[in-house]
Parts: sequence; structure tokens; C-alpha cells
Amino acid sequence: MSKKFAPIIIANWKMNGLLLDSMQKFKQIRNNIQEGLVGCEIVICPPFTLLRDMAEKIPGTGVKLGGQNCHHEGNGAFTGEISANMLKDMICEYVILGHSERRTNLNEGSELVNKKATISHNEGLSTIICVGETMYERNNELAKVVIREQVLHSLPQSSNINNTIIAYEPVWAIGTGETPTLEQIEEMHDYIEDVVASELPKFGGNVRVIYGGSINSKNSAAILNIKNVAGLLVGRASLDVDEFWRIIETVS
Ligand code: 13P
Repeated sequence: MSKKFAPIIIANWKMNGLLLDSMQKFKQIRNNIQEGLVGCEIVICPPFTLLRDMAEKIPGTGVKLGGQNCHHEGNGAFTGEISANMLKDMICEYVILGHSERRTNLNEGSELVNKKATISHNEGLSTIICVGETMYERNNELAKVVIREQVLHSLPQSSNINNTIIAYEPVWAIGTGETPTLEQIEEMHDYIEDVVASELPKFGGNVRVIYGGSINSKNSAAILNIKNVAGLLVGRASLDVDEFWRIIETVS
């Protein structure tokens, strides 16, 4: 099915991977790209410790790099944090913000995500802003209320079609092997598109909404085929290069 944008497939490696093994995986991905036609944009978001080595090897591969988070201030006395301009320094083009694992485990709310997105945009990074409901919220007819709140409060004034992707990641689908039905995904992507179209005029009625949560090579084709799914955010399956590559081949 033809779409407005080439699909984007994003690997979120989360807190996984030591240097040697990860660079081997990255080499395998680069080799695969050289051998085949790739019909999508590929972004890898490794742990921060791998960024420098990957940045050295990335030019000319077509793969883009992303961070998994950044701080909401530019620099300063914030022990253990990483800034948007440090990501930029490692030639990252993207940053994932508002992932449910951070919203839940670290109590990061939409207002904080908004500040992080603002500074990321100022640095020229594109933001991948994650939103998603829990099963409790879905069962209690609250899914759309929650998604609307997360979209409207997490996206700053600086957001537009060129610097922002929204990732719909239902919390109950992350790492569980469970996915929403195709109809449920389409309905929520439609809803997010409607919220953006009616409340965020800077997008001019266009927004890229990607899906994440228990993606694998068996379900990726059907999900990518949904009319308003602009790409995939892949967790566990992206750690296995062969499996990740099968997902990429879904769109090649
Ligand atoms: P899984 O693909 O492991 O469910 O993780 C999804 C995710 O959280 C991507 O950001």
C-alpha cells in the first residue's frame, strides 16, 4: 500500500548490549544493507555507551542513530544525565522520549517529556514521542483520554511534521508477546491523527504515527500494512539481527 512517507523502522535496544557483541551485530546490519534493497529508513537507538563506536562506523551506511533519552536542560550539574547536544555530538538524528518504561519506572510525566522535546528540537534532533495506555485504562474506556493527554502535553510548541514522530506503544503490549488487533491499532492511530490535526495546527494535518509493542517478523507485515502505521518501534526483536532483518525485509 502506498503511504505518504517511507516507513521508518526503529530499533530500541534498551539497556542491552556490550561493546564487542553489539558492534558485531551492527556490522551484520551494515552488511545486510549493502547486499539488499532497503525500502525503509532504519534507526538504531543503542545504549549511550555504544554511541561513539557506532557513530564512527555509521557514515555511508544509510542507518541513522538515536538516543533513548536526554535531559531537559542543555548542560550543567546533573550527575548521570546526558544532554541533547551530547547526542547530537554522537551524530544522533533522533531521540526517544516518554517511553512507558521511563514514564512508569522513573515517574516521567508529559510536562517533563515536553521540556526534553523542546531542547531536542533546539539541537536539531527529531523526537520519537511515545504514548500508550495501560490495560486498566483500556478496560475502563480511558485509553483515548490518556492518549490525548499524553499527545497534547508531551509535544511542545516546537513540534512539527519534520521533527516529531509519535510512537503508539500500548503499555500492555510492551515485552508481553501480546499485541492489539489490527483494528485496535488502526483506531488508535486514527485517533492520534485526529487529535494532532485538530489541536496542533503546525503539523498541517500530517503526522507520522508508528507502532511499538511485541513486534516480530510474524506480525510486522500485517501491522505495517495498516493504512496509518508509518513505521515500527521494535524492542526485543531488534536485538536478534536475523529477526530484525526479517522485519526490515517486510518493507523492502
Ligand atoms: P518490545 O518490542 O520488546 O515489546 O518493546 C517495545 C518497545 O518498548 C519499543 O520501544
